[in-house]
Amino acid sequence: MAICPIDYAGFPCDIDAINEIAKKYKLYVVQDSAQSIGAVYKGNKTGTLADVTCFSFHGTKNLIVGEGGAIVTDDDELAKRIIIMREKGTDKHTYLTDPLKKGYYEYVDKGNSYVQSNILGAMGRTQLKKLDRLNNRRKEIAAKYSEAFKDIKGFDLRPEVKNIEGNWHLFNILVAKDDKSFLLEALDAEGIGVNIHYNPLHINSYYNRICEFDPDKLKGSVEFFNRLIRIPIYPTLTDEQINLVIKAVIKLFG
Ligand SMILES: Cc1ncc(COP(=O)(O)O)c(C=O)c1O
Repeated sequence: MAICPIDYAGFPCDIDAINEIAKKYKLYVVQDSAQSIGAVYKGNKTGTLADVTCFSFHGTKNLIVGEGGAIVTDDDELAKRIIIMREKGTDKHTYLTDPLKKGYYEYVDKGNSYVQSNILGAMGRTQLKKLDRLNNRRKEIAAKYSEAFKDIKGFDLRPEVKNIEGNWHLFNILVAKDDKSFLLEALDAEGIGVNIHYNPLHINSYYNRICEFDPDKLKGSVEFFNRLIRIPIYPTLTDEQINLVIKAVIKLFG
């Protein structure tokens, strides 16, 4: 059994508190760092904070490699199992890398076909060299937005949290719940590509169907979603485009 916290928007969750709960109840922690590659918690980067960390290289992420992702762990036993699961449940990796394992490889466990292609692997290695530069550009954009919006009363910005340095995967503002639809339409009319991801899993129709949720629980996630608007942030956004976004937001809220 494991706890699976998510680093929303590229900001590491309070992993010390989660690791403590996991230790108490003898659970693994599998940190979903799909959005937070390169982010830092108390001086340490994501990938070093939990038993297992998952990164995503999907086209919307900070490190883009077409598709796929990576699992990181410093637990040798888990690593061995993951390497087998990645190769359809076979010990092919040992067969390819251990000169003493000759002859053939075999199915030793359950698994699936998760092996990354060499072409995407090569692309990933190049992207990795650019990661700091790409993340720094996102930080620059976030700093411009934060400065421009700091005196606006109509919405809340992400509060700064001591010891947490995000990679600014997303830039979200929290508006008044009743204004959200209007503001989405108005920003769209200004030519600004806004987004409202993510809606809480438990209100998605599939999970709603298969699980029984107490509507009085998980209220924080629903409240957050009801107020959430994301404005554009990505490394190739030009200064001119950033100023257009700022101008549109100030026009509506300023
Ligand atoms: C928080 C989070 N977890 C998991 C995923 C899934 O990543 P992938 O598409 O690489 O499987 C995503 C990507 O959309 C994500 O944002």
